[in-house]
Amino acid sequence: MKEWRPTAPREDLERIWPYIPGRHRSEIIRDHGIADVLKLASNENPLGPSPRAIAALADLAAIAHHYPDSQARELREALAGRHGLTPEQIVIGNGSVECIDLVARAFLRPGDEAVVGSPSFPRFQIACQVVGVRPTVVPHREWRFDLEGLREAVNERTRVLFLDDPCNPTGTLIPRDDLAALLDDLPPEVLVVLDRAYYEFVPEGERFEEDLDRIRSGANLVVLRTFSKAYGLAGLRVGYAMTRPEHGRALNRVREAFNTSSIAQGAALAALDDDAHVAETVAVTASERAWLGGQLDRLGLEFIPSRTNFLFTDLGARAAAIDRGLIERGIVIRPMSAPCIQPWARISIPARTGGKRFVRALEEILG
Ligand SMILES: Cc1ncc(COP(=O)(O)O)c(C=O)c1O
Repeated sequence: MKEWRPTAPREDLERIWPYIPGRHRSEIIRDHGIADVLKLASNENPLGPSPRAIAALADLAAIAHHYPDSQARELREALAGRHGLTPEQIVIGNGSVECIDLVARAFLRPGDEAVVGSPSFPRFQIACQVVGVRPTVVPHREWRFDLEGLREAVNERTRVLFLDDPCNPTGTLIPRDDLAALLDDLPPEVLVVLDRAYYEFVPEGERFEEDLDRIRSGANLVVLRTFSKAYGLAGLRVGYAMTRPEHGRALNRVREAFNTSSIAQGAALAALDDDAHVAETVAVTASERAWLGGQLDRLGLEFIPSRTNFLFTDLGARAAAIDRGLIERGIVIRPMSAPCIQPWARISIPARTGGKRFVRALEEILG
């Protein structure tokens, strides 16, 4: 009888930090017997999906036996029209997180360098590590990207610089002029990934409106956007990259052909048409963020002013007890696991009912 021996995976996989998503509702239901879970750990949309997306989902269910359009043509055309780009400049991902992986796979070779700020979206580092690149990590200064430090970390081996702006988990935005200066100063062959997952939540006057102009004029930029946050479709997994056409072709080379489902493509298309739902989401988020901030102030918990749908909050010495107490009450926040950002936590902005429940629970726990 043949004796099986497991094939050893790459040794370096052991060094990749696993991405730990917010606890899923089902875990809380199963472990704590609480049916009504308030999840404030993944920056989901408290208003839910656009009614137009829900209607599209119902229609599309009947064609679930069809393969999706591997090119997502309709969605790409709609996005290209909206952003003033060509469809060749849009690449659809299974969530924008897939686009991060596509960039790493298409542009990074072992021995290349990539630069990331810290703390920022952990998937940047993971994507690099998966392709055998150890990212150069530049710590933030006062919870903001250290732009000078990032520039200094770029050398002749650097191929990609990853920035999430606004930044997850801090919620801060790079001032427009500072970002423009950094982009202008970088060596021209360095590809900059600007992850704009929270773009819609940034007040108009503060937005870096040059993203698309720069892409149109041929800058080495990949701008990422997602349907998971303001568009409320996190469960469907749709995001996209906007970039130069030749970069688009490179990303498509490494993309799995059927990476997004027909249901996801169709719902995203419908959601894109519902500007009112996005506007309401943004307005509710802004007012509830102000309200929740006031409550955290009252309870003596420090947080960083945010341009997103979450608040990065210092839970102090009682962080573990707060997290435990919230979980026991069916409320999930996102305590930070990296030592440099403990005992901070990321708290998604809920609608008012959820907000009141969260604040009541905090009051009970803090006594
Ligand atoms: C900065 C940033 N980028 C990307 C994502 C992932 O978004 P998606 O659901 O589109 O994969 C997130 C989600 O939390 C995020 O915070």
